[in-house]
Amino acid sequence: MRLRLYRHHKVLRALLLFAFALTCVVCAGHVEPVLGNTDGVTSIFRPLAQPAQEIKELSVLVLAICGSIFVVVAGLLVYAIVRFRHRAGDELSEPPQVYGSNQIELAWTILPLLIVFVLILVTSRTIADIQNRKPPPTAVQATVIGHQWWWEIRYPELGIVTANELHVPASDGRGSRPTFLKLQSADVAHSFWVPLLSGKTDLIPNRENLMWIEPTKPGTYRGNCAEYCGTQHARMLIRVVVHPPDEFARWVNEQQQPAATETSAPEGRKVFFANSCVNCHTIGGTSAQGKFGPDLTHLMSRETLASGAALNTADSLRLWVRDPQKLKVGCLMPNMQLTDEEVDQVVAYLQTLK
Ligand code: CUA
Repeated sequence: MRLRLYRHHKVLRALLLFAFALTCVVCAGHVEPVLGNTDGVTSIFRPLAQPAQEIKELSVLVLAICGSIFVVVAGLLVYAIVRFRHRAGDELSEPPQVYGSNQIELAWTILPLLIVFVLILVTSRTIADIQNRKPPPTAVQATVIGHQWWWEIRYPELGIVTANELHVPASDGRGSRPTFLKLQSADVAHSFWVPLLSGKTDLIPNRENLMWIEPTKPGTYRGNCAEYCGTQHARMLIRVVVHPPDEFARWVNEQQQPAATETSAPEGRKVFFANSCVNCHTIGGTSAQGKFGPDLTHLMSRETLASGAALNTADSLRLWVRDPQKLKVGCLMPNMQLTDEEVDQVVAYLQTLK
């Protein structure tokens, strides 16, 4: 009796473990929306660009092959467990003893070899397809640099520097216009992952990794850092904004403009330049040329603050400038100990950076 109970526990435990593993697999494909949920949950199961589509097709094939093997093996196992379970009186007789079979042994050696060979072939073909793609002359080139905990984005050929929101053109009927990314890190290892567009690629210090994306559908695609990189790893979100070609040209033109020289917030400007803000941030065309934090030249053109930790509204900007640790614990931007008045003035100045 005790033996049977013990067996039940084992079965129950195995079932629970299986359910847990299944939940993990399903959840692993999803990045929950954090803010400004415009296009729902991002999922690896419904990619909207190359190379994510190619990767998904391969994954489905591999899953189908491995799933069939699982069904066959588990089926035989269940059959053996039920058909040959312990029965009263079994102690008295010995089961038939089998000493090998050349046919069966050959079959279960050659068949798996063939299956593994097929898997190697299709996988290496997909990897080669993706890695050997050469940038066409129309390609957009961008460099993405991972920082704790934000993304620096540079377009060396266009002379644009921005942060956390990568803008790219969509490929459409008029031609293919992929974006080729150089991935670097300023500190620790990070990983660039926008599930609907591509697989993950790491950003590693002292090394440059390459990847490309070719979306065809305009919209905002969310992703995040997929390599644990410290306290705020979870709030190292990235947005890829895919524009129709003419809209992309407009965005490029806007970003190439020098910083606004509006005089509507002279006090805030004074506070900004009198404090160490300038040591970390760049504002194009001014003496602020810091490289440690995000470039603020066109701060107000971004949808979010602090790498997606908050939407870019006056309220969160105020909260952020007053005490960045409140919004993003552990972040490397210090509390500048500004008075409430100074905070309002700085925010008014930042809001002129369109
Ligand atoms: Cu950067 Cu995790």
